[in-house]
Amino acid sequence: MGVAWLAGGVLIVALSIYGAVRVGSQVDGVNAGMSTDPSEFFSVVLDVFRGNLVWPATATLIGSGIGVVLAFFTVLVLMSKTAGKKHRTQVDWAARHMATSQELSQMRGKEAKQKAERLGVTDSFGIPVGALLAGGQKLFCSFEDMSLLLAGPRVGKSTSFVIPAIINAPGAVVTTSNKRDVLDATRGIRKDAGGRVWVFDPQQVAVEPASWWWNPLSYVTDDTKAAKLAQHFASGSSEVGARADSHFEPSGRELLAGFLLAAAIDNRPITDVYEWTTKPGDETAGDILMASEYALMAKSVQGATRLEHRERGSVYSTARRMASCLKDSTTLPWVNTTGPADKRPQFDPARFVRSTGTLYSLSKEGAGSAGPLVLALTAATVEAAEELAALSPGGRLQTPMLGVLDEAANVCRWRDLPDLYSHYGSRGIPIMSVFQSWSQGVGVFGKEGMLKLWSAANIKLYAGGIAEPEFLGMVSDLIGSYDRETTSASMNKGVRSTTSALKREKILDIAELATLPTPKKGRRTGRAIMMSSGARAAMLRTVPWFDGPKPLVEKINASIKDQQNGTPAPARSEPVRTGEPVLTSATVSAEGEQS
Ligand SMILES: Nc1ncnc2c1ncn2[C@@H]1O[C@H](COP(=O)(O)OP(=O)(O)OP(=O)(O)O)[C@@H](O)[C@H]1O
Ligand SMILES: [Mg+2]
Repeated sequence: MGVAWLAGGVLIVALSIYGAVRVGSQVDGVNAGMSTDPSEFFSVVLDVFRGNLVWPATATLIGSGIGVVLAFFTVLVLMSKTAGKKHRTQVDWAARHMATSQELSQMRGKEAKQKAERLGVTDSFGIPVGALLAGGQKLFCSFEDMSLLLAGPRVGKSTSFVIPAIINAPGAVVTTSNKRDVLDATRGIRKDAGGRVWVFDPQQVAVEPASWWWNPLSYVTDDTKAAKLAQHFASGSSEVGARADSHFEPSGRELLAGFLLAAAIDNRPITDVYEWTTKPGDETAGDILMASEYALMAKSVQGATRLEHRERGSVYSTARRMASCLKDSTTLPWVNTTGPADKRPQFDPARFVRSTGTLYSLSKEGAGSAGPLVLALTAATVEAAEELAALSPGGRLQTPMLGVLDEAANVCRWRDLPDLYSHYGSRGIPIMSVFQSWSQGVGVFGKEGMLKLWSAANIKLYAGGIAEPEFLGMVSDLIGSYDRETTSASMNKGVRSTTSALKREKILDIAELATLPTPKKGRRTGRAIMMSSGARAAMLRTVPWFDGPKPLVEKINASIKDQQNGTPAPARSEPVRTGEPVLTSATVSAEGEQS
């Protein structure tokens, strides 16, 4: 390398001297016999040093000019080299063995745009996921891609994937979180885009006032939906990874489903459901169901009411634990009317999915959180989108509705998600689910379920920060191997010989994947691995919003600032009268003016 640099340097100096002498001789009218054949330039240079040619006075000026130009270009080259190094990371070399821009042509440029148009969205490339490291082209998921993102804490899940996805969504967006960062960053842009912003914040994660409410019982139109809602309460209220009791869990869930159905039929507030779980001998729910078309459900509830004392206590306490989020006083105004004078709009999922609104569902994590309600609201909205898709031409939404389940394992433990995943893609409901680790997903869906979700996702993303060898081994296997040429030297009777061999090695091993570089502002150092159907794994450079185009960054910063400036009103101004019927409040248009 050093020799090459030296030779290059000598050549440049020689060429400069040659140029200076040639032009200088002509200008000064000296060295008449000098060879003009360019191939003899070296002997001309030597003649200058031997004194066979005179050094023209103008040559000094010309030589200095050439020197300045050369120095300028050298500085430019060196600067670009250092700039390149600043953005380079220790895993970048692997990109040369991974997917090329050609292989991913359907995720970028014209092809991506055409696909978006085919799926009903004009002027869009899709949902941004980052830039291909080899080539720098921006890549986009299509509006029928289901994606799964795994990355550890603070490595850019929200800033590089969730926020860009939400601000680029063409229609309605449903998103979950346990923090207010995504809401703050995207609210202004989503509002400016024309849709209403709905923030469901029963635990005051973003200190949002309850300016609207949602009646979970409006979802319960029959016994199947009652069972589904009970399932959401069950999975949303359990600790991640906790083993469910195989006897009391199903019985408690069935009882809760019965109570939910009874309350919905009798037009009661959802708080009655919690109250019933505290009164094991109470026959009200059984009587309501007996008088309805759901006689079998009535028998199930009555059976639980008449169980032997101790067993009944356990079944009821299981149901009570599942519904415990309903007893929280700050939760009540979000799922109940505050009385006949309540003028707040009621959220209607069926109208929302026809709008370009944004639903942010926030909850803290852990047992006793509002997780079951966040899950129930998210699932009810996605199901409403599915119902609308069934009525739409081709069985898909005219304008796709995006679901971004950030912190899915903490606040949106949707047990059926692995089964539903591939199905929603074809309905125009692309969903991006975000997990902090593989084991977090296993805690929600079980090992089989998490594998099913992984397989059903046609875009799988890993953005670093996870140290789980089993998961990283799977990613490493999917990235694949390459043949590395190894050379070994040996001495035999004083004769040195070298042998070359090809050795198969992992493109990226577990250690390299565990330490995948994370983003730093202005440094372009974030890396992610993308595994997509039909292409080799690709190395992406993550593109956090704060490194995006200036006008967009300004808009997001303005949105964040607006949130900080806003002085939130208290969550509730008047006490909730839990005995009031819930369906008296007028349901307003999802495209309504407030936000
Ligand atoms: N406006 C900003 N400017 C510079 N850096 C930022 C900005 N916002 C966030 N970051 C940094 O970007 C990194 C990634 O943050 P991000 O919130 O996207 O991570 P995450 O993976 O979503 O984390 P978590 O698991 O906590 O939700 C963090 O180090 C954070 O400090
Ligand atoms: Mg986050």
